[in-house]
Amino acid sequence: MVNEIKIVAIIGAGFLGKQIASQTAFYDYTIRLYDVRTETLEKLVKKIARKKKKKGALGEITYHNNLNEAVSDADLIIEAVPEILELKKKIFSQIDENAPPHAIIATNSSSIPVSRIEDAVQRKDKVLNMHFYHQAIPMVDLMKGTRTSEETFEIGKRWIESIEFTPIIVKKESFGFVFNRLWHRLRLEALKMWAEGIVDIEMMDIAWKIFTHMDVGPFELMDTIGLDTVYNVHMSYFKETGDPKEKPPQALKDMIDKNMLGMKTKKGFYEY
Ligand SMILES: NC(=O)c1ccc[n+]([C@@H]2O[C@H](COP(=O)([O-])OP(=O)(O)OC[C@H]3O[C@@H](n4cnc5c(N)ncnc54)[C@H](O)[C@@H]3O)[C@@H](O)[C@H]2O)c1
Repeated sequence: MVNEIKIVAIIGAGFLGKQIASQTAFYDYTIRLYDVRTETLEKLVKKIARKKKKKGALGEITYHNNLNEAVSDADLIIEAVPEILELKKKIFSQIDENAPPHAIIATNSSSIPVSRIEDAVQRKDKVLNMHFYHQAIPMVDLMKGTRTSEETFEIGKRWIESIEFTPIIVKKESFGFVFNRLWHRLRLEALKMWAEGIVDIEMMDIAWKIFTHMDVGPFELMDTIGLDTVYNVHMSYFKETGDPKEKPPQALKDMIDKNMLGMKTKKGFYEY
């Protein structure tokens, strides 16, 4: 195992993948990006390369049309594809087959413990949860799988510190980690109160902002995250527990079916 990360591959350059790449670009790392949608990658890579140059950060940024190429020389691979267990397993397995033996594979999943994914790989000692929030929130939950080594965990922790984010150490496996678990409960209650007609979204956002002194409320935040991602995360909790109380309201699903996904489609709870 090399003790130092030099090349970071990010698999899935969507909302979070882009932000992870963007933060990593400020530091001396080479970044490899892969996404099934290649059309926007070239533009993104140029933008990040400009940022890197301006900051004087070493290392290149490249994008790739196939995953195998993107991970072939990586030391750390961060998977940030949609929140679907079977897809994540498939991606982990392909990474495992093509990345160098020393490479660490992390999942940015919002809820799925890496222990549910680790069966897909041989290198069970080199996997972990590395859960980023959106970029304005400079912290990352770090959680082990059942066989993650101390060395892997320590390298992951040091790498997070090296990009000047705070690692939040999860001591025991927890579905939803630490802060995300808390945020999940609050968000589900907000969604239910809206769906039951108890409160308007604007009112809820105002109450939240007054109470927390934050600039954004839960509905504004959900529009930023993407309502499809929010829905998938809540469905993961529902599937995990089987508890109908965990199910997100049908009204949220109806919005997704109408392509009202939040900021990315210019319409969600609010219009943009
Ligand atoms: N949105 C958030 O605020 C947030 C926060 C923390 C963690 N996460 C987690 O990050 C992951 C990604 O979420 P997101 O919000 O960035 O979703 P997103 O839909 O914006 O991005 C996912 C990207 O993955 C790509 N993709 C789909 N299938 C792929 C494949 N087979 N190979 C490569 N790329 C593929 C898509 O084209 C898309 O660009 C999820 O696990 C989510 O739970 C999201």
